[in-house]
Amino acid sequence: MSSPTTDLGVGQVGHAFMGAAHSQAWRTAPAFFDLPLMPRRRVLVGRDHDRTSEVARRFEWESVSTDWHELLTRDDVHLVDICTPSDTHAEIAIAALEAGKHVLCEKPLANSVEEAVQMAKAASAAASTHGARAMVGFTYRRVPALALARRLVQEGRLGRIYHVRAQYLQDWLADADAPLSWRLDRTRAGSGALGDIGAHIVDMAQHVTGRSITSVSGTMETFVETRPVAGTAATLGGTGSAGAERGPVTVDDTAVFTARMEGGVIASFEATRFATGRKNSLRLEVNGELGSIAFDLEDMNVLHLHDATADDAVGGFRRIVVTEADHPYIAGWWPPGHGLGYEHAFTHQVVDLVHDIAAGRDPSPSFADGLQVQRVLQAVEQSAHERCWQDVSGD
Ligand SMILES: NC(=O)c1ccc[n+]([C@@H]2O[C@H](COP(=O)([O-])OP(=O)(O)OC[C@H]3O[C@@H](n4cnc5c(N)ncnc54)[C@H](O)[C@@H]3O)[C@@H](O)[C@H]2O)c1
Repeated sequence: MSSPTTDLGVGQVGHAFMGAAHSQAWRTAPAFFDLPLMPRRRVLVGRDHDRTSEVARRFEWESVSTDWHELLTRDDVHLVDICTPSDTHAEIAIAALEAGKHVLCEKPLANSVEEAVQMAKAASAAASTHGARAMVGFTYRRVPALALARRLVQEGRLGRIYHVRAQYLQDWLADADAPLSWRLDRTRAGSGALGDIGAHIVDMAQHVTGRSITSVSGTMETFVETRPVAGTAATLGGTGSAGAERGPVTVDDTAVFTARMEGGVIASFEATRFATGRKNSLRLEVNGELGSIAFDLEDMNVLHLHDATADDAVGGFRRIVVTEADHPYIAGWWPPGHGLGYEHAFTHQVVDLVHDIAAGRDPSPSFADGLQVQRVLQAVEQSAHERCWQDVSGD
């Protein structure tokens, strides 16, 4: 393995859940993969100096700051990685792109289509003016089994696609005393289950099939309308205190919708944080004329494949353990059968982004892709509100 000679200085904003996942990715990517640029963990930014310093120490960041604006003027920072709640994405990303920095921005891209439009415009302008690149963090694209699913569809192994069935099921809010956090505040999160986890399955369904969602019919519900304002809000979940003051939940707890996709595909989507017993179950099933694929993130090294052209006597889904060297991303890791986990997709995200930056090409998913997902989310909200089908608007 050769060592790259040119540095890619990274400034990362946010140091909690995604902050740790991204820090780990920047650290492991050059250790396991040949990269054309060497990521340097230059600055970790948070709001509290002591807490930021502690995380910086653990993940070996060179310095800390409590003001993300500092990243814009530092010559040794070439990329701004945004791991903060979605109400901050537009301001930080646009400022970074205007300063000529590459940007990796967590999903959902923004809290509204209007913000996402501005971000996509800024990305396009920064690409032509500075050669800066912008990627949105739909990380599950980089789970090897889902990357394989896309490859099989692209190879035509499923033939004409009839159905997509996508679910993202969690249960960390099923406890009615789980405390309020930014994810339950519409002004900070934009929406609830829809934007938080529904955005992932919208992107995943479109990415795997290569077809965009064109219209939707949805419904949304908030099951628990108030929660303790005091309490320990862990990353997902937490503990409320008995008798504590309660405040309003201003987002959806679940969003369910049917959709039409390009090419006559009929799809269903379900995003909920109330699916008791389901911890982080992103499921995708695609049915085509020649066969089907099925995936569940709770068994993330496995892709199920049904070959509809096979003899009925030996038909049915078979279980592919996606750990072979010719499966996507696997060659950089362990021998066959030595599976990967949640964090590895973040490493793959960094690997692909660094290659894109070095090659001077737009990453996938781009900010334009993030904007398109935002349009779908908006259409679902409008549909639920107006109780009718909504077309997904274009430019
Ligand atoms: N790709 C994925 O699979 C995935 C998974 C979880 C979350 N996310 C996304 O990542 C983002 C962050 O989510 P999280 O779960 O890490 O949240 P979190 O609450 O765990 O962490 C948020 C971080 O942002 C910091 N922060 C908040 N406001 C800030 C500000 N104004 N300036 C500087 N720092 C600020 C907080 O101090 C904290 O470090 C969200 O957009 C979320 O949707 C993506």
